[in-house]
Amino acid sequence: MINWRYCLLIDKETISEIKNSVNIVDVIGETVALTKAGRNFLGLCPFHGEKTPSFNVVEDKQFYHCFGCGKSGDVFKFIEDYRGVSFMDAVQVIAERAGIPLAAENAGSDRPRQQHPHQALYDIHTEAAKFYHAVLMTTKMGEQARDYLYQRGLTDEVLKHFQIGLAPSEGNYLHQSMAGKFDENTIMNSGLFNLAENNLVYDAFQNRIMFPLTNDSGQVVAFSGRIWQEAPADGHTAKYKNSRATAIFNKSYELYHLDRAKPVIKKSHEVYLMEGFMDVIAAYRAGIENAVASMGTALTPEHVQHLSKYSKKIILSYDGDKAGQAATAKALDELRDLSVEIVRFPDNLDPDEFLAKHSPEDLQHLLTKTRISNVEFLLHYLKPDNIENLQAQIDFLEKMAPIIAKTKSITAQQSYIYMLTDLLSYFEFQQVEQAVNNSRLDGRRERQEEQGYQSYQQAPAVVEQPLSKQLSPLIRAENHLLYRMVHSPLILNQYRLREDFAFATEELQTLYTILLSNGEVTPQDLSQLPDSVQHAWYYMLEANLPEESSDEELREVEETREKELLRKDNQLISKKLREHYHNGNTDAALLDLQQIIEQKRRME
Ligand code: GTP
Ligand code: MN
Repeated sequence: MINWRYCLLIDKETISEIKNSVNIVDVIGETVALTKAGRNFLGLCPFHGEKTPSFNVVEDKQFYHCFGCGKSGDVFKFIEDYRGVSFMDAVQVIAERAGIPLAAENAGSDRPRQQHPHQALYDIHTEAAKFYHAVLMTTKMGEQARDYLYQRGLTDEVLKHFQIGLAPSEGNYLHQSMAGKFDENTIMNSGLFNLAENNLVYDAFQNRIMFPLTNDSGQVVAFSGRIWQEAPADGHTAKYKNSRATAIFNKSYELYHLDRAKPVIKKSHEVYLMEGFMDVIAAYRAGIENAVASMGTALTPEHVQHLSKYSKKIILSYDGDKAGQAATAKALDELRDLSVEIVRFPDNLDPDEFLAKHSPEDLQHLLTKTRISNVEFLLHYLKPDNIENLQAQIDFLEKMAPIIAKTKSITAQQSYIYMLTDLLSYFEFQQVEQAVNNSRLDGRRERQEEQGYQSYQQAPAVVEQPLSKQLSPLIRAENHLLYRMVHSPLILNQYRLREDFAFATEELQTLYTILLSNGEVTPQDLSQLPDSVQHAWYYMLEANLPEESSDEELREVEETREKELLRKDNQLISKKLREHYHNGNTDAALLDLQQIIEQKRRME
């Protein structure tokens, strides 16, 4: 933990030790996406808006330079400029990151302890938090606001624990109370006040429920204020308003309630990450104290680095609505190096709304007992709406295979392959498994290339099948038939005469209809068709069959097709049967059963 009192006394050697203990590319890489360009790294400059990268990080000299705006410096300068903090703060940030303890250095020194350079800013926030809390708890004005909070299920104990407050509804009450105690610099740099055109100072927060935001050591560093009475109908009033960035507040780094959550995180080795303050408070009300929230921004790499100092396991508990699920998918990407589980909230609810509709026990149960893995979440989240469509299934499989391949446990991997197969009518278990295995091999090769790993041994020959070759027997058979029709007018004519013939694969049937009426499928025809049909066309052409075909060959392929169609039908009816049975619909189930038996007979 940072002990600010000592840190002004860091000597030159320690500072250079701190600097040498990190790589500037890693530090900047956490906030700026960098790509290697020759000997340097290039990215979009974080200090001025730009669309083409001119921000250069020179690894061997450990500095950065922007050709666009001219900003340059070492790793400390970057932290100073990016976070708007002092040099000493920047040194502290890097030291902490590198795990270099600074506090012990001067212990026992006779020199008087020096204050943290921003002590006054911490103090004014502490005072302001007390002020707002007192307004809420003890004034007439606060009574109504307290009623609002009671209605939302908060008790005095909760209001006290989170030190929730109320900003008075007009003017400069806070300023009046602080002006005598703090100098003008502190007032102006605190983020708690604004300057009107007539140079009068007024409170930045007015008529809002105030949530104090603390740093890891529990010092109040900012506030977030929520409207609680009817907002003016100007459409501009934000529901929540945060303090602006200051020397002690970086909203892309701080996490709500982390200081209080820390001891429980340490014991349980896990932390819940939620979207809102009220959600964290709901978790607390349900007996779960290791929940934190980011502050209305999406999760940043800085948040992730911050969290990972305390826990390697994150339980994502975002809102159950569409936006929350999209945010979950994004966060999964940011959290890729940590272990993650997901809690999904039903009926579009957020944790706080869930608690309002159910009991604390229910919320606790949901949070502790119903977590799913990232793969299970993505199976659900990435599943296309038109899952009946062949191309949609191929795309879905291609997206999921590498994700499943990254799973470490073999048993888990097998069960994910089962789950995925269940969603894909065109593919069989073995084909899905094959796709997963292929992408695992891809991943391994990429990693080896990244590491510059060269094996002198002959690598085992991996015969990789393109997905088209891994298609189900039904599609392979139908591709085969269409292929022959496309390449032989004679064969096409045979099928034209069989009026009852139709392809079971929707895309192939579309192509067949065009072929029948035009005798060919031209590039113009193709360009007007949906992507899925165009893809199906090329998969079919890839079939690469021998030039000569025979009647016998076609008969065999047709037989395979018939069998597959029956089998598919059977699967469908079996599924319906199970559903009917499950729903207690025995009459319908009996009919299904009859159908299955009839089909079995035909298949023999
Ligand atoms: P309640 O409506 O009080 O239950 O809050 P909520 O947590 O359900 O709100 P929501 O899901 O809309 O927002 C989640 C978090 O996003 C909040 O805790 C805030 O940190 C942030 N947030 C919401 N609205 C705003 C806004 O208008 N401006 C800013 N800066 N942040 C917001
Ligand atoms: Mn809410």
